[in-house]
Amino acid sequence: MEQLIPVLTGEQIEEKVALLGKKISADFSGTEPVIVGVLNGAFVFMADLVRQLTLECFIDFIGVASYGQGTETSGDLSLTKDLEMDIAHKSVLIVEDIVDTGLTTAFVRDHIRKKGAQSVRLCAMIDKTGRRRTRVDVDYAGHRVSEGFLVGYGLDHAGKYRGRAGIYVLKS
Ligand code: IMP
Ligand code: MG
Repeated sequence: MEQLIPVLTGEQIEEKVALLGKKISADFSGTEPVIVGVLNGAFVFMADLVRQLTLECFIDFIGVASYGQGTETSGDLSLTKDLEMDIAHKSVLIVEDIVDTGLTTAFVRDHIRKKGAQSVRLCAMIDKTGRRRTRVDVDYAGHRVSEGFLVGYGLDHAGKYRGRAGIYVLKS
């Protein structure tokens, strides 16, 4: 049976997102960044984060599929949805639900760099550090964990639990 063990409550997430919003607003002050959410997981975090920014920003989404089984990215990645905006010469902030092996984020980051962005920074609600397979710098992390499979606040397991307000470790 699947069991959900609480990691962060909705209130704790709210506080963390507010802090991230302050920091990002200060760092990007004077610019109009393009905030790029990685579908599907980032949609909840992204909606909360942009409402904490005191800057004018543009919003776009990118979709990436990873082929393979189980709970780890295979590394065989392809775009399912490309950006709609022209991001050449723009400051870009990638927003991810979670960075695990780092392969998805590295793929998105390289894709955005190739399109000529002026700068590319990364914000992830969860930085899961224990299984990194490639170097990615998480410039803004809401919360760091070393391991475990997390669900809630946009994160799913086989499509379930995205709508939970808190974040949980899934034990099965
Ligand atoms: P990465 O390429 O291994 O860094 O992970 C990319 C994707 O795997 C994330 O964007 C999530 O969709 C999914 N993922 C990795 N770890 C978890 C987790 O603990 N819970 C839910 N999804 C996860
Ligand atoms: Mg994801």
